[in-house]
Amino acid sequence: MKISSISENTTDEKRVSITPEIARKYISSGFEVILSENYGTHLGFKDEDYKDLGVKISNDEKDIIGNSDIIVQLNLPDEKKLSYFKENQNLIGILDSIANTEKLKMLTAKKVNCFSLELLPRITRAQSMDILSSQANLAGYKAVLEAFAYFEKAIPMMMTAAGTIPAAKVLVVGAGVAGLQAIATAKRMGAIVFATDVRMASKEQVESLGGKFLTVEGSENLETEGGYAKETSGEFKKKQEELLAETLKKIDIVICTALIPGKKAPVIISDYMLNNMRPGSIIYDLAAIQGGNTSASKVNQMVDYNGVKILGEANILNKLPTSASNLYAKNLYNFVLNLYDNEKKDININLDDEIINKTLLKY
Ligand code: NAI
Repeated sequence: MKISSISENTTDEKRVSITPEIARKYISSGFEVILSENYGTHLGFKDEDYKDLGVKISNDEKDIIGNSDIIVQLNLPDEKKLSYFKENQNLIGILDSIANTEKLKMLTAKKVNCFSLELLPRITRAQSMDILSSQANLAGYKAVLEAFAYFEKAIPMMMTAAGTIPAAKVLVVGAGVAGLQAIATAKRMGAIVFATDVRMASKEQVESLGGKFLTVEGSENLETEGGYAKETSGEFKKKQEELLAETLKKIDIVICTALIPGKKAPVIISDYMLNNMRPGSIIYDLAAIQGGNTSASKVNQMVDYNGVKILGEANILNKLPTSASNLYAKNLYNFVLNLYDNEKKDININLDDEIINKTLLKY
């Protein structure tokens, strides 16, 4: 069984799908591993490191793709590279089945099996493959560090002979995987942390991390069966706005993480709420690429809104690509093992397996 990966466009994507540690695991599980030249050089993973483990390195991407059973990537390769794919090959990655529908339809018409990992069900058995959690966890951590780096005051309370510096107050909007890690990180650095979410299950999780949960008055639990958030009603939005507008007057840093799967991110912090914030405050909007949780967020730009700095990047994971790759590659490895029948030494697309069924694209 041959498994391969070709270089991503490293300007936009610095993560890799096969780290040396994971290449070793594939090889000891009986796989042949093929990578393109300089695959991980930008992360300090030299071709020689991979070769020493038994990985084949090639500078011919057409040959790599054409001769592989499984191709693992972060993003969907460009159209030229997609033309190299053949029937019965397996492509696994964060393929973004909504944005890339046309290209993926073309691939599935060629009978390429395309597995898109953002569709993975959030079930216990899938936890070791859950790229959404592993990457969101790092994103939540890094968003706090980025926001704190721009904040021009100290974070923890400091009592000195020259006077007392109060602890910074942080609000986390959306207490899912990224939000909970943001709360934990901000707490560890000495901030006072508030958080809000539409899912009531998150209240206990926020409190267990030492955060104060802000409950929207009279709110019902807006959670789907899959554990995701539902869209809020107009009345809920109004109450949430009232609560947050008041709270934001005393908040120094906001970390936004609120998302609704398959939809544009909800705008939670509107212009008039931004006007309530003190100059010098910072907002890090992790949802910027999905449209943003504030009315003023712009991808890859620092917006200065009357002295409030609003940050949001297309891919914050490019700021800790080595850690993100280590977890992503491990998630992929676990996904591949679940797809592989060790006795038959072949891929087994068992549609009774929820993990396989939900990630396999069918048009
Ligand atoms: P997400 O990335 O889709 O959304 C982030 C957070 O934003 C969610 O907590 C959501 O409720 C919140 N949100 C959405 N609209 C909002 C609004 N208008 N105002 C305030 N908050 C809003 O969610 P994520 O982090 O991927 O987590 C989704 C679910 O998956 C959670 O229930 C989590 O516990 C569950 N999960 C389960 C795992 C498992 O293996 N069993 C592993 C990881 C997550």
